[in-house]
Amino acid sequence: MKLGVFDSGLGGLLIARAIRSALPDVDMLYFGDTLHLPYGNRSDEAIYKYTRKAMDYLFAQDCALIVIACNTASAAALRRLQQTYLPTLKGTPYAGRNIIGVVVPTLEAAIDQKFKSIGLIATHSIVTSGVYAEELKKLNPHLSMRAQATPLLVPMIEQGGLPWIDGVLAFYLRDFCEDPVDALLLGCTHYPIIRDRISAHLPAQTQIMAQDEIIPQKLRDYLMRHPEYSDRIGRNGRSEFHVSDLTNNYLTAAQALYGHAIPVMEAKDYDT
Ligand code: DGL
Repeated sequence: MKLGVFDSGLGGLLIARAIRSALPDVDMLYFGDTLHLPYGNRSDEAIYKYTRKAMDYLFAQDCALIVIACNTASAAALRRLQQTYLPTLKGTPYAGRNIIGVVVPTLEAAIDQKFKSIGLIATHSIVTSGVYAEELKKLNPHLSMRAQATPLLVPMIEQGGLPWIDGVLAFYLRDFCEDPVDALLLGCTHYPIIRDRISAHLPAQTQIMAQDEIIPQKLRDYLMRHPEYSDRIGRNGRSEFHVSDLTNNYLTAAQALYGHAIPVMEAKDYDT
């Protein structure tokens, strides 16, 4: 069986690459829902529907455990999937499999570092969902968090907007400059790409917490604590990359992001 890694499309490749470095022998299937990308400005209902379909796909592809690397899908769909979708798998060949997300592990990593104040930048959907703040309250009610929606960043990263991104970052990060936080969480798969640019707009005392560093570590711990999934995942170091809609643009962007060419294939009959 395999470890599934799901994202709305592109940014999750950075997380998949980091997971590959941390867990070199794990058989992994990455699935990007490029047909419905971007998720960041969609309704919760649409994100849930798309994510559930992706879970069906990944389970049918023999994934024992799925990591939803996409923050937007983790925020809008994970809880509902765990509460209402996973129970429907009882009595089916997919019983006993699991889905995990990135919100709680990211917050745990920040809490472990004993920061007193944290900031979050993320897509519009994540910030309005309030999921990061809600989960933080459960994990540590004494830690304060300020969130800023940064909806232009994903399209700018994906559409060649990097030459103009500094002006946009200066605008989005102005509150974190005037009233600094100890750590800024990058709550979107794409943001590690512009980590240095973000850092340049923050006071020196603010530490950046990026998920390409956090998630592989947390996943390794999770697999150690959960042999019921890890023992079923193959250890031949195989990587597969599937998307719901394959274009030349995606291949070019995926290669740039992953660092080398990767064999991407289109999921069969995904839209039917
Ligand atoms: N992957 C998404 C996330 O981490 C951002 C991209 C999108 O909007 O689809 O939130």
